[in-house]
Amino acid sequence: MRVLSVASECFPLIKTGGLADVVGALPAALAPEAVAVRTLLPGYPEVIARAGAAGPIHVFDDLFGDDLFGGPARLLAVRMAGLDLLILDAPHLYARPGGPYSDPQGRDWPDNPRRFAALSWAAAEIGRGALPGWVPQVVHAHDWQAGLAPAYLHYGAAARPGTVFTVHNLAFQGQCDASLLSALRLPREAWNIDGVEYYGSIGTLKAGLRLSDRITTVSPTYAREITTPAEGMGLDGLLRARSGVLHGILNGIDEAAWDPARDPHLAAPFDAGHLEGRETNRMALRARMGLDGAPEALVVGVVTRLTGQKGMDLLLEALPALLGHGMSLALLGAGEPRLEAGFQAAAAAHPGRIGIRIGYDESLAHLIQGGCDALLVPSRFEPCGLTQLCALRYGALPVVARVGGLADTVIDANEAALAAGVATGVQFAPTTGPALESALARLAALWRDRGVWATTQANALHAPVGWARSAARYAALYREVTRTA
Ligand code: ADP
Ligand code: GLC
Repeated sequence: MRVLSVASECFPLIKTGGLADVVGALPAALAPEAVAVRTLLPGYPEVIARAGAAGPIHVFDDLFGDDLFGGPARLLAVRMAGLDLLILDAPHLYARPGGPYSDPQGRDWPDNPRRFAALSWAAAEIGRGALPGWVPQVVHAHDWQAGLAPAYLHYGAAARPGTVFTVHNLAFQGQCDASLLSALRLPREAWNIDGVEYYGSIGTLKAGLRLSDRITTVSPTYAREITTPAEGMGLDGLLRARSGVLHGILNGIDEAAWDPARDPHLAAPFDAGHLEGRETNRMALRARMGLDGAPEALVVGVVTRLTGQKGMDLLLEALPALLGHGMSLALLGAGEPRLEAGFQAAAAAHPGRIGIRIGYDESLAHLIQGGCDALLVPSRFEPCGLTQLCALRYGALPVVARVGGLADTVIDANEAALAAGVATGVQFAPTTGPALESALARLAALWRDRGVWATTQANALHAPVGWARSAARYAALYREVTRTA
């Protein structure tokens, strides 16, 4: 089975969040299912640099030579990090400083609609046989950046590959002005409510959700939530109408990249049967974050984008309660300036108790997971969430809001679960300051009872967090929609 995966991020080449982790990990997870995945990515500078001297295997001459997309483009093919990559090398679109979506000042590039339409168009062309030696049977598009790929295939020739569209986060909808319809090579017939039209604009996320053969999202609970007006962000009606082809397939983590027994970022290796190394990591984390309080003080870890979605404003408000329980905080994150400033001020006010690193730091993310006692994820909504899965695997108890994939992956340490010996962490609801504070109180009580803590930690360390089951589900979906151009 040949599948073209198309996305704007892929670990370890380019990453702003969990999308990259999933796109990077799925191909290896699908290999045992006899699915061969090629992954199409934009040729961002980081990607081109890592691809090295890859030769072009296709030139989109007629496609990009006009003023629609504004310049030449070619496809580079390279195998690296276990991935079979196709890179859309179009310097006028992607060879820029800053992040994948924004300039160095954080402002979105004004031509983002065109940049990601080009990516989607290239995917559709590959789906239609642009690479004669390799024609995919399924095109799997991820998030709004690739949302037009199913649309281009839908409005193209009848002979086309099947399409699967995965929404990783309904909050990012990729809307653009209706006047771009023909510039983005969408036919006039696409301009209606059953096409790409979305509240008077072109909706690229909407297009993917409406025009793909199957929709998936990244947890069963989020799949249900997004069909409700409260969580559907304007798309719940469409998602209810398509609920027959909507599937919630839980994310996993790459168990090789996140393996405490072989993690080069840790101070000492450990595993479920040998936890001594964990204490060494705890000391290393405390030293790195400048936490010099009592050694037995519970260390709460956070690794996150600093945004409202992640409930970080609630954590700021709950800091007095956290400190009141004698806990300390080790937080790594970057995002909204007011949240960055808020945490920096808190660290300045409580040196030795609150350690903050603002920025993106892959290595510190691993040390926090291997050294903190509990990992906090107080999200308002969370399609899946990956950091709580890493926490389980690293023996840090996840303390999570009961939403989306967080609800599906953590077993709350309530009386029944403790009696049955199956708890793996703490859940709380709703996502409010008071509920977060009572979760911290429950965590403190758990910490005082070291026997129960040890059992819960052992359960966490054995919780399934890999890809095997979900990879089989993706493979089954691919088989359902398989067609050939
Ligand atoms: P989202 O994609 O919504 O940000 P996820 O939990 O799915 O949330 O994925 C986040 C990924 O990004 C995880 O792999 C996490 O370890 C990583 N991450 C988030 N913030 C940082 C950071 N500041 N430094 C390093 N890694 C980070
Ligand atoms: C999005 C979601 C996150 C999910 C990730 C990977 O970024 O916010 O919950 O884990 O995608 O699917």
